[in-house]
Amino acid sequence: MIGDQSMSKFLTILATLTVLLIGSTVSAGTPKPLPNLDDVKGDKCVAPKDVIRVEHKYYLLHQRDETMRKGIRTKEHSLKNCINCHIVKGDNGKPVTIKDDRHFCKSCHTYASVQIDCFQCHASKPSPRPAAVEK
Ligand code: HEC
Ligand code: HEC
Ligand code: HEC
Repeated sequence: MIGDQSMSKFLTILATLTVLLIGSTVSAGTPKPLPNLDDVKGDKCVAPKDVIRVEHKYYLLHQRDETMRKGIRTKEHSLKNCINCHIVKGDNGKPVTIKDDRHFCKSCHTYASVQIDCFQCHASKPSPRPAAVEK
């Protein structure tokens, strides 16, 4: 009986170790869902990190509804402004578009298997005339 108990304890420990081992191997080999902040402008986001990370889709979709239905335009949660600050520069030193895997939005979405159609219509790199975008 005692033998059985310690055997099952041993198996539990073994299983735990195996899970830990596999877990660390996987995370070492796969890219992490880290936002690409290499060339980001400014020193803080429109919301605290842990908030924007989870809530951004609601901000953006809400913002779209407000703009499209009521004609309200605010800078804070606009998609244009995300794109203007969240620049990722390519090998030529110019901002990449959504076609590049390094693009800010893609840096997480590819990992998280999120597909968005926004950039079929919206520009995925900053406007060449930043002053006009501030409005
Ligand atoms: C004024 C420039 C600016 C604007 C506009 C901006 N961001 Fe940020 N964002 C930053 C900076 C700087 C950081 C890194 C420091 C921080 O998290 O505050 C960041 C961080 C983030 C992060 C990563 C948080 C993490 O987990 O580390 C996400 C996601 C993000 N922004 C999404 C957005 C989205 C979506 C928008 C548009 C609604 C947006 N940002 C608009 C500057 C900006
Ligand atoms: C079929 C084209 C189309 C698609 C797809 C699309 N939009 Fe838009 N969006 C527009 C148009 C047109 C406007 C209004 C014109 C403007 O404000 O630039 C707009 C406005 C917005 C605005 C308010 C203006 C701004 O820059 O903040 C936001 C936010 C927005 N869309 C977010 C999104 C998001 C997020 C997605 C993807 C989930 C998306 N849109 C997909 C066409 C589109
Ligand atoms: C920190 C990682 C990260 C970054 C950077 C990021 N996203 Fe996301 N996004 C996610 C995750 C994870 C989800 C899916 C989870 C969820 O729906 O809440 C998501 C979901 C979304 C959705 C909803 C998709 C759907 O079908 O429901 C939209 C729209 C979106 N993101 C827009 C953007 C845009 C635009 C950018 C770049 C300006 C961006 N995200 C950058 C992690 C990120």
